[in-house]
Amino acid sequence: SYTAKIGPSILNSNLACLGSECIRMLDCGADYLHLDVMDGHFVPNITFGHPVVECLRKQLGQGPFFDMHMMVSRPEQWVKPMAAAGANQYTFHLEATVNAGALIKDIRENGMKVGLAIKPGTTVEELGPWAGQIDMALVMTVEPGFGGQKFMEDMMPKVNWLRTQFPSLDIEVDGGVGPDTIHKCAEAGANMIVSGSAVMKSDDPRQTRGGYGVEATG
Ligand code: DX5
Ligand code: ZN
Repeated sequence: SYTAKIGPSILNSNLACLGSECIRMLDCGADYLHLDVMDGHFVPNITFGHPVVECLRKQLGQGPFFDMHMMVSRPEQWVKPMAAAGANQYTFHLEATVNAGALIKDIRENGMKVGLAIKPGTTVEELGPWAGQIDMALVMTVEPGFGGQKFMEDMMPKVNWLRTQFPSLDIEVDGGVGPDTIHKCAEAGANMIVSGSAVMKSDDPRQTRGGYGVEATG
């Protein structure tokens, strides 16, 4: 059995106060920060890029783990800038690259951990061949692009399959996860849980974190 880590997504926070929102989440018990990068091309929304990440790293210091969720069309382009900005993990979408193997190698050579994400329409069998080379698989539980969408429970068999095939792989879920859905994710085998609006809109995120003290069987 294991305890899942919680990584708040700051997408739905007050982006005018990004640094203090991150600090608030860390003070409330966040295990890591899930930072959503969108380019207006891979997804129909724009957020921020490496210059903002660099400022966050300066403000927050070396401690917090930054998991970069790269919802961009050319993930190859941002590996070096993100590494230089202080990213710890570079999570790219399988749908966005034609050469996942080369990208995985480049991310490692730039000193970051490797995350590989799949959209709801992508089968987990497509991710399978890469699973032995990555640190984390991200199973999207909404269509990427926006916070506050409904959790897709029918993605749980993907998580289950990955957990069975790759017992020591980090498996992350992202989208629509909150107090009502987190246990399904943990039971399926996810050990890195992203939560955006549920944590952000909570009056007491510390309490929400408490509710997330998931003991899951792995
Ligand atoms: C969606 C993003 C998610 C999102 C999560 O494209 O990747 O990280 O912000 O937010 P909620 O938990 O509100 O779905
Ligand atoms: Zn995300």
